[in-house]
Amino acid sequence: MIVTLTFSPTIELSMSTGSIRPDDKLRCTSPRYEPGGGGINVARVARELGENALAVFPEGGATGASLLALLEEMQLPVASVHVGGWTRECFNVIERDTSHQYRFILPGVAIDGEEQDALLDLLGRHLSSGGVLIASGSLPPGTPNAIIGRLSDLAKRKGARFLLDTSGPALLAAHGAYLVKPNERELEEVTGQPLHEVEDIVHAARRLVAAGVAGHILVSRGRKGALLVGAAAAFSFDPVAVDIRNAVGAGDSMMAGVAVGIARGLLIQECVRRGIAAGTAAVMTDGSVLARAEDVERLYANVPAAVSLPHSRKMAEAPMSLRPVLPRRDAQ
Ligand SMILES: Nc1ncnc2c1ncn2[C@@H]1O[C@H](COP(=O)(O)OP(=O)(O)OP(=O)(O)O)[C@@H](O)[C@H]1O
Ligand SMILES: [Mg+2]
Repeated sequence: MIVTLTFSPTIELSMSTGSIRPDDKLRCTSPRYEPGGGGINVARVARELGENALAVFPEGGATGASLLALLEEMQLPVASVHVGGWTRECFNVIERDTSHQYRFILPGVAIDGEEQDALLDLLGRHLSSGGVLIASGSLPPGTPNAIIGRLSDLAKRKGARFLLDTSGPALLAAHGAYLVKPNERELEEVTGQPLHEVEDIVHAARRLVAAGVAGHILVSRGRKGALLVGAAAAFSFDPVAVDIRNAVGAGDSMMAGVAVGIARGLLIQECVRRGIAAGTAAVMTDGSVLARAEDVERLYANVPAAVSLPHSRKMAEAPMSLRPVLPRRDAQ
């Protein structure tokens, strides 16, 4: 069973308007309403790929009720905690004159300490030995980063593997996760290290492993593929060249592919190949459509095998230097 946690679920409203100018009324087309938020997307794709998936998240207000209704329509299994604030809405607006896309991302609804505890209790009830817990997306304002460490501990107690896809200091708060997935920019941000070459990326990722953040760091690199870094080995994965339609959802689809591989007991390199197939399938689809199973299966056969990277001095040097960058475990 794959259980996902979304701290900041969303109702996504997508629409278009002729041209975006100040002061004028911007008359829009009728919006399309879709559920969104990292973990919810991961659960949708994991289910599309044939695994049992449950999406856990907080919801509140009339928008929370709408989110539940949208997910019920999709028949996605969910378990939610009802909270005091209103579930956020985000707006994707296409300017037809230029084809530019504007994405207005609102902050996630704040959840108080009791609501945070209720989410962890709920997860605890659904996690089981051999399962996978994936937390994906940003923390809402006011939620301490330390909650990520609590998730990691909870998964360990339940015998489940913890996968994390988030950014900033929250990413560093995952002590002992099975895998974290920053993209190149997010890794640069959290390590404060400019990443020019593959060696720099491996070195930066290895600092996270050495600091105990996770056993595996999966660095996704968009059209350049991905790198998987552990304590003793590093692998490079070439991309599959496809026609790009829309890059929205590549990261979430990748996480779903990896999680499905883990749930099926595949070797970690094979899990990453599944992740690449799913991430690539997402960029082939229009709009906010996520990866489709038939595309993932077809692409999987074409994802090149992992290439083991030779150990160079630059990759290995000074792993302890992450200390000043890492927040304390109990940091906010
Ligand atoms: N343009 C592309 N061409 C080929 N493969 C791609 C492309 N974009 C993404 N992918 C595949 O999907 C994976 C995840 O994409 P990416 O690195 O962009 O994730 P992300 O930055 O987390 O995305 P998101 O914007 O969804 O958070 C990549 O490692 C790659 O395998
Ligand atoms: Mg991402």
